[in-house]
Amino acid sequence: MAKSTILVTSGAGNTGIPTTLQLLEKGYPVRAFVRKDDHRAKRLRDAGADIFIGDQFSVSDMRRAMDGVQRAYHCAPASISALHFGTIFATAAKEAHIEHVVFLGQWLSGPDHPSMATREVWLNEEVLKLLPNTTFTVNNVGWFAQNYFIGALEPAAQLGILPLPLGDGDVKKNAPPSNEDIAAVNVAALIDPEKHAGKTYRPTGPKLLSLNEIAAIMGKVLGRTVKYQNVPESMLLKALKVDGIPQFISTQLALYADEYRRGAFAIHAPNNVVRDLTGREPEDFETLTRRIVATRPEAVQTFGNKLKAIKKFMQILLTANIDPDVVAHEQEHVLLQSPKFVQDSQGWRKRHDPNAGYIADAPENTSNLVSLVRSA
Ligand SMILES: NC(=O)c1ccc[n+]([C@@H]2O[C@H](COP(=O)([O-])OP(=O)(O)OC[C@H]3O[C@@H](n4cnc5c(N)ncnc54)[C@H](OP(=O)(O)O)[C@@H]3O)[C@@H](O)[C@H]2O)c1
Repeated sequence: MAKSTILVTSGAGNTGIPTTLQLLEKGYPVRAFVRKDDHRAKRLRDAGADIFIGDQFSVSDMRRAMDGVQRAYHCAPASISALHFGTIFATAAKEAHIEHVVFLGQWLSGPDHPSMATREVWLNEEVLKLLPNTTFTVNNVGWFAQNYFIGALEPAAQLGILPLPLGDGDVKKNAPPSNEDIAAVNVAALIDPEKHAGKTYRPTGPKLLSLNEIAAIMGKVLGRTVKYQNVPESMLLKALKVDGIPQFISTQLALYADEYRRGAFAIHAPNNVVRDLTGREPEDFETLTRRIVATRPEAVQTFGNKLKAIKKFMQILLTANIDPDVVAHEQEHVLLQSPKFVQDSQGWRKRHDPNAGYIADAPENTSNLVSLVRSA
């Protein structure tokens, strides 16, 4: 029987690339939705993907991208318009009679979270539940391993410091999953919808790690001593501004850093999801660090790169402070009167209790009932 054609949205992204490549390796026809025809698109095309170049925020493009497709990976770009993306995706998926969707959700997602982006992830999931003939699987990832390298690899490699606002360096607060393992969970669910429809999975890495341990592993791979430094959140906001990250994203990241300090990503981590779905162990932090470091020019220790790192550090220090409340006001973010971080939310805790399971309130569509996969 012919294999189903699978659309991968955000195809050139962190999880889109490995999802596409792993599906192709398994012999599935894949259409990768990308924004531009660059080296990433070439890599995917060379591996056998059908490249669709378009705007994911255009329903006309999404309709064309879904033509002849049976299954899809729904990965909303981090954006102030994520819910817009989700609604476009759902509209086109309904028209195209997409049979199964894997949705990249968030471990934190819920209706009461302080982050507007996180509430929109939850709403995106609710919108998917409205599709009458589409089943879906949620990949409810926590803090990606990739995040430790955004802006922080350069100071680690050049200056020997890992400056992040993630609290006490000794406390083990995350079991970071690699993009490849997140993708492997997507792939398992995309190729076997019958087994995975209605399930919510949370892939983790193999071990809970503290920031001091993460810095030590980076140091081992980089061949130098790297020390974690707990910096104020204002430093993160300024550093992301210098890197050109939109302020909507940086203010949401600051809320996720708050969740990190509170220990939200340590809840029920690590677990066996990657092993159970793929039959192999999840990648450890050292293995994925080696892969990332090998591809990043800022990791190479030269005098010139060190000067660049010092210049950027000075630029961050000289950048004016950013007040997240002012950003939220100016950008008219939707705010709640009584938002709740996950550990303060009874609803979230109940839904994520591995002993109770999680049944989403979609009684009219039992094929889409969501059950939380038990943690190890
Ligand atoms: N990082 C975390 O810890 C974490 C945790 C849980 C969930 N998530 C979720 O992860 C998602 C992001 O996934 P990811 O990291 O795999 O994606 P990503 O690397 O941010 O990739 C997004 C891709 O979408 C493309 N794109 C953006 N706007 C587009 C448009 N208008 N038309 C076509 N393409 C467009 C981007 O293109 P260019 O590259 O060309 O700009 C990029 O390749 C978010 O929804 C977030 O909620 C993240």
